[in-house]
Amino acid sequence: MKISIIGSGYVGLVSGVCFADFGHIVTCVDKDASKIEALGRGEIPIYEPGLKDLVLRNTQAGRLFFSTDLAKAVAESDAVFIAVGTPSRRGDGYADLTYIYAATQEIAAALTGFTVVVAKSTVPVGTGDEVERIIAKLRPDAEFAVVSNPEFLREGAAIDDFKRPDRIVVGTLDPRAREVMSEVYRPLNLNQPPLYFVDRRTSELIKYAANAFLATKITFINEMADLCEKTGANVQDLARGIGMDNRIGSKFLHPGPGFGGSCFPKDTVAILKTSHDYDSPLRIIETVVAVNEQRKRGMAKKVIAACGGSVRDKSIAVLGLSFKPNTDDMRDAPSIALVTALEDAGAKVRAYDPAAMEQAKPLMPNVTFCDDAYACAQGTEALVIVTEWDAFRALDLDRLKQVMAAPVMVDLRNVYRPEELRRRGFKYASIGRA
Ligand SMILES: NC(=O)c1ccc[n+]([C@@H]2O[C@H](COP(=O)([O-])OP(=O)(O)OC[C@H]3O[C@@H](n4cnc5c(N)ncnc54)[C@H](O)[C@@H]3O)[C@@H](O)[C@H]2O)c1
Repeated sequence: MKISIIGSGYVGLVSGVCFADFGHIVTCVDKDASKIEALGRGEIPIYEPGLKDLVLRNTQAGRLFFSTDLAKAVAESDAVFIAVGTPSRRGDGYADLTYIYAATQEIAAALTGFTVVVAKSTVPVGTGDEVERIIAKLRPDAEFAVVSNPEFLREGAAIDDFKRPDRIVVGTLDPRAREVMSEVYRPLNLNQPPLYFVDRRTSELIKYAANAFLATKITFINEMADLCEKTGANVQDLARGIGMDNRIGSKFLHPGPGFGGSCFPKDTVAILKTSHDYDSPLRIIETVVAVNEQRKRGMAKKVIAACGGSVRDKSIAVLGLSFKPNTDDMRDAPSIALVTALEDAGAKVRAYDPAAMEQAKPLMPNVTFCDDAYACAQGTEALVIVTEWDAFRALDLDRLKQVMAAPVMVDLRNVYRPEELRRRGFKYASIGRA
């Protein structure tokens, strides 16, 4: 199959590279010429484990190409995947579909022969109808089908998720499009790839419902963690105790500083906008969004309490800035709200992250960025673990104690055991554990 991917960001690049690895001929397109030039030189613009090797292997094999020429790529393709961003629209929180519709217009102009236009970006229910309308209006002669195929990969584990998905949701009722999509994903499994065909609107909504449900699960365990702290219970044991019930499941029951990242925050707000437009309230998700927003900034209170009630003029170390380990993505990372709240309270913040510091710098202009965890801890009165990178799982505690002004650790990911840290002479606070 010949495939083009419009938008070569986290999703577009991973999808394109994996499709090429399946044996398809793929052109990844982006309007950002510097990104395409860098990719052409084998430089990967994002931090994603395993991606560089796969890009090089498939480029060398002559299956993977990078281009800014959308028209040429589309004209030669059996399937065109739209993977441009759909961020929160400034001011009102609706999904911003500007990039989707701009890409659609360009695609329409270039279509030749029967082509499946696939919305891989996360788009509100009904967007596929609009994409179809735009193409039909601009190109009444074109033979095409518009399909929804939302992406469920997780940053940091993106390649494995893409190649071994739980399910591949495909929203279309068009038999020709169904055939093309089956062929695109056929090499995924020797047997039957886990394709799940539904109508387009249901497919669009499945993506938002999945993210909203996962965000709810995280928020649920976060509130339970607060209750554990107040009642002297242990949230990790509680999570295990409920997670062993198959109806509940053990995943996404890790308490922390609130969910962030490129998807959950914007997608929960966007589905609320849809619910308002259709007069069909989603009260649970409304609460999830409100609770999570408060929680992110509220984490600063934990740090302030651990520092004896004030952080004014104190130096605080923050370890981990990206919204989760193994990515450099800073979009809506909980570290942003935490750092702002600490600075508002008068603290001077030092920070270290293994991959996200370049992305973080413009977002945190007053922070001192350091070369490693120990340099970051130097002279600080508390060390806060915000993102559980592997590099922070076995820190040399004696070395930390030596360089810090006071041995205080606030562990927002429950990486360490409270009794161990106290035995080593630290004042230690974590989430949902006495
Ligand atoms: N990041 C994730 O983990 C993830 C997971 C599942 C779904 N999604 C969804 O996938 C979509 C893409 O997300 P992302 O994180 O990859 O975004 P991104 O911002 O990393 O990448 C989008 C890319 O599209 C390019 N672009 C925009 N308009 C273009 C145009 N007209 N022509 C060519 N290129 C264009 C941009 O330059 C950018 O490189 C979003 O809808 C997101 O919600 C993301």
